[in-house]
Amino acid sequence: MCGITGYIGTRKAYPIVINGLRRLEYRGYDSAGVMVFDGSKMNLIKTKGKVSDLELIANKDPQKKEGNIAIGHTRWATHGVPNDVNSHPHFSQSGDLVIVHNGIIENYDTIKKELVSRGYKFHSDTDTEVLVNLIEEVKKQNNCKLGKAVQLALNQVTGAYAIAVFDRTKPNEIIVARLGSPIAIGVGKNNEEFFIASDASPFIEFTKDAIYLEDEEMAIIKLGRDIRVRKIHDDTIVNASTQELQLSLEQIEKGGYDHFMIKEIHEQPKAITDTYRGRMLADQGIIRMAGVDDNIEKFLNAERIIIVACGTSWHAGLVGEYLLEDMARIPVEVEYASEFRYRNPIITPKDIVIAISQSGETADTLAAIKLAKSKGAFVFGICNVVGSSIARETMAGAYTHAGPEIGVASTKAFTTQITVLTLISLKLAKAKGTLSNSAFHMYLQKMQLIPAKVKKLLQIDEKVKEIAKVYKDAKNCLYLGRGFNFPVALEGALKLKEISYIHAEGYPAAEMKHGPIALIDENMPIFVIATNKGHYEKVVSNIQEIKSRSGKIIAIVTEGDVTVKEIADHVIEIPETEEALTPLLTTIPFQLLSYHIAVMLGKNVDQPRNLAKSVTVE
Ligand code: F6R
Repeated sequence: MCGITGYIGTRKAYPIVINGLRRLEYRGYDSAGVMVFDGSKMNLIKTKGKVSDLELIANKDPQKKEGNIAIGHTRWATHGVPNDVNSHPHFSQSGDLVIVHNGIIENYDTIKKELVSRGYKFHSDTDTEVLVNLIEEVKKQNNCKLGKAVQLALNQVTGAYAIAVFDRTKPNEIIVARLGSPIAIGVGKNNEEFFIASDASPFIEFTKDAIYLEDEEMAIIKLGRDIRVRKIHDDTIVNASTQELQLSLEQIEKGGYDHFMIKEIHEQPKAITDTYRGRMLADQGIIRMAGVDDNIEKFLNAERIIIVACGTSWHAGLVGEYLLEDMARIPVEVEYASEFRYRNPIITPKDIVIAISQSGETADTLAAIKLAKSKGAFVFGICNVVGSSIARETMAGAYTHAGPEIGVASTKAFTTQITVLTLISLKLAKAKGTLSNSAFHMYLQKMQLIPAKVKKLLQIDEKVKEIAKVYKDAKNCLYLGRGFNFPVALEGALKLKEISYIHAEGYPAAEMKHGPIALIDENMPIFVIATNKGHYEKVVSNIQEIKSRSGKIIAIVTEGDVTVKEIADHVIEIPETEEALTPLLTTIPFQLLSYHIAVMLGKNVDQPRNLAKSVTVE
């Protein structure tokens, strides 16, 4: 969490850094700050609040914005409450060094005590201020250059970090380093300027050349010179290669929509197509996926697949469990990465671990992968962000190709993750012979129709808005589904809670009787998925049980449904498809519903409170 950005070169640095911070706000947005170096002085502006609050303050003192070097930060608090003082950047005691930091220094308290005993005074509650003073102390003790001091200091800390450090007495360089939190460096023409950021979005209009640091690497960025990268722990020089960025400016802008979330909901027909493009050749009856093809024996001989993920990606993993077991007949377990990594799980070399992550940076998922690898399992990744830590840490994988997802609430990541899982399930089912040829071909044909069906479904927006109006003031909601759509019920509830702050729970419909039914009264809206091929009669009985206790039913049904229509208070129809593919459709109305309710309640849809898009701390 937290976004960091920086610039060193010949342009005005403030607008570049502030614009970069706006693009990185998805990573955290409880406070923001910037340091601009004007050639002699380091001007610091920082505040609790969003980047827009920072700009308002900066605009009152334009002189402070002048200079060609700047570093900035948008925060998601870990140590110390969000307030002006705890906001980054942080100065060292002498005022010579300044730092921005994304991550957590776990042993900061011990280091702080040591520094206090040496006369250091601290102004904030942050671990970051401890780190910058440690660097200063190490520099003083060893009488060394900034790069060396950063390296020596980092060897004393435990935790996770992406940092950028600047020394006003050496104003032609910035030092960056990473362990567990991402950092990208944009390289300008002839090394005359450099950009630093948590991801490449802050600098795509300036350069397409980027270097991504790996864990335990640091870089000395010096004007007019090639970037020098070395290992933090053993000083090895690293030959870091420059990558050409594929990202475009258009992809990270709202494109006429009010919020990224609604833009991303509407992007799903294209995102799903992009996910299977080149992989699913429906007319030829082929699914190609290099990461699976190259390791097909491992997949076919796997005794078990363990899926690890968090949040929405975990919900996609649950859909994957239903798909893989149903189609490919491989036993699957789905684990919260945060639990898996700490519970001494049984993992053998005959297991395949599939890690799912939109950002590819989720700390718990990354740790689960490392654990699985250490036990000899083959680890396959499903990620959206190209070149992300998880994509690099896994042994093979498949990108979802959904394009940047900026809204904090995950939407197109979910449907594209399910698309990848469907392709893998079908591919393995074909290879294992657990699905007949005709069923395999039928699925491919139906899968090909999904993007058009999602597009059609998106036209129900007005109807969903009407339903949102009726239920926006509910205090609690239930979401019910069965089989393939049980995970969609969980996801629907998560979407509502995270952006509208309405309490919601997802349950398998039949579990109602085992407790949650006690909650039902005339004030309780219950969203039920009742597709025609998915245990339909059973779900209808569940709906009857709710109705007879005066609950309000909002049902998602298949086009042409008659039975549920008669009982439910509202129905939303989805186009007909195979039950295994319905999660790609049933989830759409829930996304729209959460979006409209949150907008009606005046919530900040793209930046819900307390959340961040990329959870790089455990
Ligand atoms: C919910 C949401 C989160 C993420 C979770 C995992 O809308 O976005 O629950 O799904 O933090 O993130 P990734 O997929 O990036 O590992």
